[in-house]
Amino acid sequence: MSLTVLRTRDELSAFLRRLRSTGASLALVPTMGNLHRGHLALVERAAKLAERVAVSIFVNPTQFGPEEDFDRYPRTPEQDLAALSTVPCDLVFMPPVEEMYPFGIPSAVRVRVPGLSEVLCGERRPGHFDGVATVVLRLLTLFDPEVAVFGEKDYQQLLLVRRLVADLGLPVRIEGVPTVRDGDGLALSSRNAYLDAEDRARAVLLHRVLRRMGERWLAGEERERIEREALDALRAGGLKPEYAVIRRAEDLALPRSGERPVRALAAAVVGKARLIDNWPIP
Ligand code: PAF
Repeated sequence: MSLTVLRTRDELSAFLRRLRSTGASLALVPTMGNLHRGHLALVERAAKLAERVAVSIFVNPTQFGPEEDFDRYPRTPEQDLAALSTVPCDLVFMPPVEEMYPFGIPSAVRVRVPGLSEVLCGERRPGHFDGVATVVLRLLTLFDPEVAVFGEKDYQQLLLVRRLVADLGLPVRIEGVPTVRDGDGLALSSRNAYLDAEDRARAVLLHRVLRRMGERWLAGEERERIEREALDALRAGGLKPEYAVIRRAEDLALPRSGERPVRALAAAVVGKARLIDNWPIP
């Protein structure tokens, strides 16, 4: 399959007009590049849901705080294009910042999803989810796909996008894809590249602790205790946890005792990386 690479909104709308004139359905996989097996699983899933697949690669400045890793976020366009040529992908959109924010970032129209934006990662990264909602709405408007595919690894982001789409009544289905993990359970993430060998060995604890939280919830233990001991376990393993919680799977609200489905979610700093992960408790 030949891969078309586009960089401007005009090129994109001309391409999509031609594609739509054939009657083909479209799935969009939004990414920030530095693609790994987790992203490729999203593309594979997208190809099962629509006739044509588009991937966007854009390191979105509005979702990074001033002290965060926007400048050092790994950018690997050649590798990404090589990886995308191995999966069923028709179109890659790699816009420069001016194409996505033509009036400049300070003047950019922003979108906000109250409730889901301020908790957990949103509490630690003020404004992060406004940036995510803003860029996702821009991408959905540009592509107008039938389906858009997101990883469950960013579970809070997935719920936020679902809420955005439901509240605005956008005609797109949001598909979540389970997290792809290394053999030892560490969730694949572009930020794993920041880990040295020692931190990489430590990082696997995040996944182990989340699974253990799930087992304890299913055994009927009290939420506060599970969460407290999860934080202790992460600290004892040399991680700096930000949160380790059990929340309702549907909306991240506090669950009633024994309620299901819930999700165990955690974020922790490991060496130079801030990692997040979550585990379903069905
Ligand atoms: O998950 C990501 O890679 C990003 O947050 C997204 C959805 C592409 C928006 O920039």
